[in-house]
Amino acid sequence: MLGLSMLTAVSMTPVTAEAQVQFRNATTGVLIDFSFGKKGEETEAVKHFMETAENKYNQDEEAIKVGEDLYMTACSGCHGHHVEGKLGPALGDAYWTYPAGRYDKGFFEIIYDGARAMMGPQRNNLSIDEILKVMAYVRSVYWDDPEKALWLSEEERAELVPAEMPDDFREALDNFNKTH
Ligand code: HEC
Repeated sequence: MLGLSMLTAVSMTPVTAEAQVQFRNATTGVLIDFSFGKKGEETEAVKHFMETAENKYNQDEEAIKVGEDLYMTACSGCHGHHVEGKLGPALGDAYWTYPAGRYDKGFFEIIYDGARAMMGPQRNNLSIDEILKVMAYVRSVYWDDPEKALWLSEEERAELVPAEMPDDFREALDNFNKTH
């Protein structure tokens, strides 16, 4: 538990001042203004992400557990309880409407600032730290081709053991293959 409380150590400096990566809206390309959005703790992970677009919570079991819980309340209604897709697309396969989502920078931009249709910005539901945890959870249940897991380094991809494909996704895929 000590590790977790250290991770969430607080400093109230605004995130904007430190952003070195240029984050842009996934559909318009407009620079994201971080002065809106749910205020949250500027954890080490948030600082690191703003500077490098690398998510320190990937493969961090504690963070993934919290992320799963947040995913269930904030995303599962539209993306499915097993990330299999429902009203919104599946997020655990290698197909992306927005190919930038294969990298954590693009994945974050879609969630924080929204995309089209019913994919509204999540910035008022979740803090940046919470979004990073949701992202780590979604990445942890990826079931597709390891070579297409582009958010990982080449070495990490070589070692990745994909998660099991959710039953409801497999069923939909089988039906699709029967009719195409
Ligand atoms: C009200 C329903 C709804 C909620 C809630 C919602 N989404 Fe979405 N999401 C959608 C829809 C619909 C799309 C397709 C939008 C498009 O194509 O522009 C989408 C698209 C996406 C994409 C892009 C997928 C791709 O293939 O490029 C990502 C990533 C995503 N959502 C993540 C999330 C996460 C993470 C959450 C929770 C924090 C969430 N969404 C909450 C409906 C929702």
